[in-house]
Parts: sequence; structure tokens; C-alpha cells
Amino acid sequence: MSARNQQQISDWNGPVGGRWLTYNDWLDERTAAYGEMAFAAAAPQPGEAVLDIGCGAGATSLELARAVGASGRVIGVDVSEPLIGRARERAQASELPIEFRLADASAPLFAPNSFDLLFSRFGVMFFDDPAAAFTELRKTLKPGGRIAFACWQEPAKNDWYVLPLKAIAGIVEQPSVDTNAPGPFAFSDPQRVERILTEAGFAQVELRAFEAPFYYGRGDTRAAMAEDALQQVFRVGPIQRLLAAQSEEVRARATQAIGEALAAIATDEGIAVNGATWVVTAVNGRRADES
Ligand SMILES: C[S@@+](CC[C@H](N)C(=O)[O-])C[C@H]1O[C@@H](n2cnc3c(N)ncnc32)[C@H](O)[C@@H]1O
Repeated sequence: MSARNQQQISDWNGPVGGRWLTYNDWLDERTAAYGEMAFAAAAPQPGEAVLDIGCGAGATSLELARAVGASGRVIGVDVSEPLIGRARERAQASELPIEFRLADASAPLFAPNSFDLLFSRFGVMFFDDPAAAFTELRKTLKPGGRIAFACWQEPAKNDWYVLPLKAIAGIVEQPSVDTNAPGPFAFSDPQRVERILTEAGFAQVELRAFEAPFYYGRGDTRAAMAEDALQQVFRVGPIQRLLAAQSEEVRARATQAIGEALAAIATDEGIAVNGATWVVTAVNGRRADES
């Protein structure tokens, strides 16, 4: 592994990766709609070679492999040992043309002109030096190759992130989000995304907004829904980490406040929170003889 991205590599092999492994099915279900939009934009074709960047437990890699078929191939790359382990287990049962690599996707891992398509569902926002990472990744594309990925829009548009934080605004100091630093919102500023991809040698960069709610809480009663949703809040987003350092009393007050905020938006169908993403597409802007 490279010296870069050490914090993220440590997080995704530590508690963050552990939570993603434990709640993988739940997370796959909640992020499916966003991934499907990126998949449609990517339009993988039979026979193509595809790299799934930050593939996690491999759900999208399997989908890509189904699309490219036996004459194609898919490589999923991720820094998280537990998540790559799960991805390999999932792929083993299938006959799909798929392989997983435990590696930092920003390192020079693959020969130039290896792939027709670079794809990612929320796996490209974690590089210390995104322009350098995307330059390496672009070089692995064939001339005319393309990239398509999903990333989150700004925190304020993502209820799954801001709703619990707003609920505890008077109890715990709000964390500031540095949207230039590696993390879920590193690609939330469209101008920044365009700049990074252009600097990396991509052309025809396009960002299309896609928003959809996902269900946080289910249950027969609104109280049951709120209880279910409360558990989810501690699975993803900033709350787990933010409250870990607080006293038991503060944690209890904060937990109650979040529960009340969730109960307030319960409907007969459940508790839904908004997720706002960008579906980003671009093409390799360099010829084979240019670096
Ligand atoms: C939000 S998760 C998304 C996982 C997966 N794409 C999905 O949709 O389920 C982000 C993933 O990016 C991976 N990741 C972070 N930094 C990475 C890097 N430098 N190289 C490869 N993977 C990385 C993490 O380990 C994690 O699995």
C-alpha cells in the first residue's frame, strides 16, 4: 500500500469498515438507487473491461460482471481487507468474470489502456490527492474509455447526514465538514469535481443531480419506526464517532433528541430521509501516446 491515504486506509480497515461489513446488506439496499443511476450512465457493454473503484463488498462489481458477460472482465479494487474478503466470498459462488484486489486505487496498479470503463458507487471521495489519483486511474483507460460514478452532493441536501446533527445542535458541538478533505462530501462541489477531473486528463465532464429518499426506519408503529431509524443513525453518518467521546449523560440526551426528530417525520410507510447525489461522467481526454 502507498504512503498516501493512510487515514482512510486505517478507517476502512478499522471501525468504519467493520460497520460497513456488519450492515452491508442494509447499506446495499439503501444505496442501490444511487448506484443504479451511475450504472445507467456507465452503460457497461458485453465484452468490456471494467474497474470498480472502492468496490467495498462488491455488490456493484457483481452487477458490472453480469453486464459485461463471459467475454468481459471486472476488477474490483478496495483498501479494506474485511470488505474485499466479503466481496470475494460473494463472487466465489458465481461464475462471473470478476476479480478483487486489495489495494489503494490511486497507486499505479494496472497497465495503461487496460479498461473501457471506470466505475464507482461512492468509492472515489477518499483520496488525499484526488487529481493525482484520477490521473493514475485515467491512464488505465483505453483511448475513448469512460468513467461514471456516484458521489454525494453537499451535506445540507443530505438529510441522512444533517437531520441527526441538527437534532443535537444544542447538546453537542457541531462538527465542521471540510469538503476539500477526503470523506463522503469531498466531491460535493461540482466546480471542484470538474477541476479535478479536467486536471487528471478527462474531457466532457458532466454532473447530473439525482435525489431520492431512502427508508431509515420501518415498523408497525411510529414509535417502532423511530426506534429502528435511531439504530440506523448509529450505523452510517457522523453520529457514532461524534458521541463516542461524550459523557453517558450527553449521549443519552443526544440519543433522545435524535429519536424525537426521527419520530417527527414518520409517515405510515416509514421514516424516509433524502439523499442527494451527483452522477458524474467523463471520457478519457488523452490519446494513447499522451500521458
Ligand atoms: C462509501 S464506501 C462504498 C463501497 C462500495 N462502492 C459500495 O457502494 O458499497 C467507500 C469505499 O471506498 C474504499 N476506499 C477508500 N479509499 C480507497 C482507496 N484509496 N483505494 C481503494 N478503495 C478505497 C473504502 O474501503 C470503502 O469500501
